[in-house]
Amino acid sequence: MTSIPDTRSSPAPHSPPSFPPGPRQRFPGEIILRLRKDILGYLTHLIREHGDAVSFRGTGARFFVFNDPDAIRDVLVTRDDCFIKGPALQRAKETLGEGLLTSEGDFHRRQRRLAQPAFHPSRVATYAAAMAGIAQRSAEGWHDGQRMELHDEMMKVTLRIVCKTLFDAEVESDLDAIGKAMDIAVGMFTRTMTPWGPLLNKLPLPSNFRFKRARRRLFETIDRFIREHRESGDRGDLLSVLIRARDTEGDNGQMSQSLLRDESYTIFSAGHETTANALTFALYLLGRNPEAEAALHAELDRVLAGRAPTVEDVENLAYTRMVLAEAMRLYPPAWALGREAKQDVEVGGWHVPAGSVVLISQWVTHRDPRWYPQPEKFDPLRWTPEERAKRPRWSYYPFGGGSRQCIGESFAWIEAILVLATLAQKWRFELLDSAALTVFPTITLRPKNGLPVVLRERK
Ligand code: HEM
Repeated sequence: MTSIPDTRSSPAPHSPPSFPPGPRQRFPGEIILRLRKDILGYLTHLIREHGDAVSFRGTGARFFVFNDPDAIRDVLVTRDDCFIKGPALQRAKETLGEGLLTSEGDFHRRQRRLAQPAFHPSRVATYAAAMAGIAQRSAEGWHDGQRMELHDEMMKVTLRIVCKTLFDAEVESDLDAIGKAMDIAVGMFTRTMTPWGPLLNKLPLPSNFRFKRARRRLFETIDRFIREHRESGDRGDLLSVLIRARDTEGDNGQMSQSLLRDESYTIFSAGHETTANALTFALYLLGRNPEAEAALHAELDRVLAGRAPTVEDVENLAYTRMVLAEAMRLYPPAWALGREAKQDVEVGGWHVPAGSVVLISQWVTHRDPRWYPQPEKFDPLRWTPEERAKRPRWSYYPFGGGSRQCIGESFAWIEAILVLATLAQKWRFELLDSAALTVFPTITLRPKNGLPVVLRERK
């Protein structure tokens, strides 16, 4: 096991606060360059080299990277009122507007109260049939020996699911237009990761015109959905709940048209690619681990015996859930979370001055050998209740935590379990020799060049 040095020290009273250790720059901007070159590798290196708390001076701000579970809890839960979202999500307002992901303070709390009923487990359970049905129909045209690009296929499945459950939309032309517009919008989102993103957004570049066109089309489609939903009753989808939600704890008001649009767009963006990535990585890991694949098949055959899964099956598909938990440990779709301290705050015993940027990384924590011996090994049995109980709560946080915890977490679990169960029951996804996985950490963690596989029908 690697031991991580504890370099924390309490400053003497009245002495200037000391910062955690960190790398020395040989020239200005060196650390930022190294982060840009290989952000996952460099974040891991910083923690292994300097300990669970690292600090350095970056462009325009002091940066902290924390990896200790207690410090992670401070950032997400105990001291979350001292933080706002980090620079990348602040810049993302330009593309996402005032949705849940980017809004702050009282405004965020109000939006969250209004959106919460749409994600209540009892409501999410009603989407289960659509989720399993869409997975089944997506696989209808598949045949034994077919080559496919797995990430693209998973994106199509989760796109159909989010369109159906959010907007009650299944018209192919709508799906196509939404899918294309989303691709362009997500591409622009990656710009938010660079400080010069906002400047690039203002230049007369073809990419900006493409983005504006795509977003206009997407907004027109969402506006049409909202109009149609206002005229009809509850159509059983998320948008129906958002339109009717009243803030009973606040001003008793409802969401305006533009808020409804921003919120729908945010939920759509946050809920589509993340789940597709989790499914892609899970199928990739199963392809490389025949024992785990056999254990999954045994569970599916025993619980489902060839029929389509329903929401009632979810709690009996314990191994399926463990496969997904382990896949999100090794390849967390949200691989890091950034925050900016809006006031001086103590995190894990360290003084963090107002204006500092704080990073915590699921990629780094989830591969820490103190919590996950042989961290590179794919072992779903790490997720039995007994094994989980041995680890600190904040050694695993694929859905974040605290007031900004993923609102779609139970949606994502049910969706991923039902889709994986439906597909893996009938199909094996054989990795091609060329399918070496390179990950691409953009706004989510995804396979860099897709993932080519050959389908094998299970007999
Ligand atoms: C495997 C799938 C998913 C993962 C790993 C994931 C991960 C996350 C994480 C880590 C956050 C917190 C971000 C932060 O603290 O800065 C978040 C927020 C959010 N997620 Fe998810 N998510 C997933 C699926 C979904 C789904 C299916 C939906 C909706 C249908 C969704 C909607 C949202 C929204 C709206 C927020 C913002 C919540 C707020 O700040 O109040 N996510 N997600």
